Amino acid sequence: MKVLLTGGAGYIGSHTCLELLVAGHEVVVIDNFSNSNPIVFDRIESICGRRPTVYQDDVCNSDGVSEVLLAHQIQAVIHFAGLKALGESAEQPLRYYNNNVQGSLSLLSAMKTAKVRILAFSSSATVYGSPNIIPINEDAPTSATNPYGRSKIMVEEILRDLTVADDSLHIALLRYFNPVGAHESGLIGEDPTGIPNNLMPLISQVASGRREVLQIYGDDYPTVDGTGIRDYIHVMDLARGHVAALDWLQERKGVHAFNLGTGQGKSVLEVIQSYETTTGQAVPYQIVGRRLGDVAACYADSSLAERELGWKAQLSVDEMCRDEWNWQNNNPNGYRK
Ligand code: WQD
Repeated sequence: MKVLLTGGAGYIGSHTCLELLVAGHEVVVIDNFSNSNPIVFDRIESICGRRPTVYQDDVCNSDGVSEVLLAHQIQAVIHFAGLKALGESAEQPLRYYNNNVQGSLSLLSAMKTAKVRILAFSSSATVYGSPNIIPINEDAPTSATNPYGRSKIMVEEILRDLTVADDSLHIALLRYFNPVGAHESGLIGEDPTGIPNNLMPLISQVASGRREVLQIYGDDYPTVDGTGIRDYIHVMDLARGHVAALDWLQERKGVHAFNLGTGQGKSVLEVIQSYETTTGQAVPYQIVGRRLGDVAACYADSSLAERELGWKAQLSVDEMCRDEWNWQNNNPNGYRK
């Protein structure tokens, strides 16, 4: 298929771009490079011998997006472009709603103009808020405790409304749990601008000596060792989940939510243990207070994706840590020289 990736230079987008090219799809990317680097496409080409057609533009430029959709006769879109830092979203709600909601509306208008009817939306486990039941399945109620999560819920609801008004649409809501790791080559990976928010890049910065100690946000949760439990999923498994969802969507109309997680929860201390054992790098840490907004445990019931998409995460936390360290160690400054 001819597929457009918005935000295709980003962490999940670039790994999905690679997997789509490997699967034989024709890929076009629109990215404003506000939180990514075009060098990633040189790396993708050196891995698989192919590269996407790339446009530097903003997804809010609806006319520009529809021109690209028409010029390349795009058949399906994966919408990655958006901002995703929970804390930052509370400080800058207008920027988050403009990027994440208005950006999606602009894209959807462009798709309507170009008559493109297949869309996979990059959603998040954040839409489940503080889950009452874990593992979480797709029927769990959604709620948000921050503008980032609310923006994801808003777009999901907009997409549901669109499919009620237009039964020719094929839409997947892909709810990611905690993507970590990197392609095994160590040539592409997560390259957070500024101070990372997430556990795994912070562990890597401590392991590489860029940061002295990891702060563990609380060890008094009702969990196996008191630290927070999450469903970490290798970014390559996540990328393959997108390829499977796109194939599945071609014949299915309506809107369909899928949890893309492993179904296994790991605590912070368990991840640190795995990282140290797998890489041989020490990860000194100190326990500090809980982080506002954190939940004790959150992990997926991903059986629907397994049943419907024929997709199941294969890679272990050890492999996630191995590949994360390989990327970090080979690219201490990310894509910047
Ligand atoms: C994981 C665990 C922390 C950092 C993520 C992303 C968010 C969204 C939802 C995309 C928690 C603990 C972390 C640190 C720590 N993703 N931790 N010390 O909270 O599940 O949210 O998923 O939509 O962008 O943030 O992931 O990596 O921030 O935290 O102890 O320095 O690690 O308390 O238990 P989280 P995380």
